Amino acid sequence: MEHIIRQYSLEAGALEAQYIEEYFTEFRRKKTAEEIIDRLKDREHLILVSMAPPDDDGTLTPVAYKIGHELRSQEANIMLSDLVSQLREVVDFSNRKIFYSWIGGTRQEWRGQGRYRALTEQQEEWVHAHGYHELVVKTKNRFYPMRATLDHLNFDVIKFQRHLRDNRESKVYLSKKIAAEVLNQHRTTRSVVEAA
Ligand SMILES: CC(C)(COP(=O)(O)OP(=O)(O)OC[C@H]1O[C@@H](n2cnc3c(N)ncnc32)[C@H](O)[C@@H]1OP(=O)(O)O)[C@@H](O)C(=O)NCCC(=O)NCCS
Repeated sequence: MEHIIRQYSLEAGALEAQYIEEYFTEFRRKKTAEEIIDRLKDREHLILVSMAPPDDDGTLTPVAYKIGHELRSQEANIMLSDLVSQLREVVDFSNRKIFYSWIGGTRQEWRGQGRYRALTEQQEEWVHAHGYHELVVKTKNRFYPMRATLDHLNFDVIKFQRHLRDNRESKVYLSKKIAAEVLNQHRTTRSVVEAA
């Protein structure tokens, strides 16, 4: 299967992600386009969307997405500075570019078709081409499918942050060092177009 991936600009991509998020049942609070724009507007970022084949009227449907951004050693945003302080003991920020794979997912009906793998591989290719050294991602104990997926995608656990009352809410931090060998292991066939 050839995966059709669109690489979006900020405003249009944030709206696509908001649209896909509407279909997710896993999250108590869904990400809005406004939140996404606010987070990404002043930093290098990548918005990728996986498109399902055209329906009867020839329209492609956005069914999976992945958004990531650069993570600096010094962050002014309180959530990001907290993230960096959690990561500092396990990720070397000195003279290295770190990319944070922030949010993403695949709509239920289209899961298990390799779409998240294709988006991840495309993100890795872009990250490598833009001089990043490491990709980091955060999930929770209770997101079992995501943990399984990150395992299949060869992410290493680098930190576990226990939630004191509910261990299912504990945070799991994972990472992948990005080198040419990683790209050589890619398996998906992708056609990528830059969208508006
Ligand atoms: C996790 C999620 C993104 C996977 O999307 P997907 O498009 O079905 O994933 P893919 O088909 O590309 O699968 C990628 C790999 O993960 C594996 N995988 C996917 N879902 C899995 C599951 N539930 N259990 C075990 N392995 C799984 C696949 O077998 C595949 O491995 P392979 O390529 O070596 O065969 C999707 O289930 C999802 O959107 N979940 C909700 C979002 C979420 O939980 N977010 C957590 C916030 S951090």
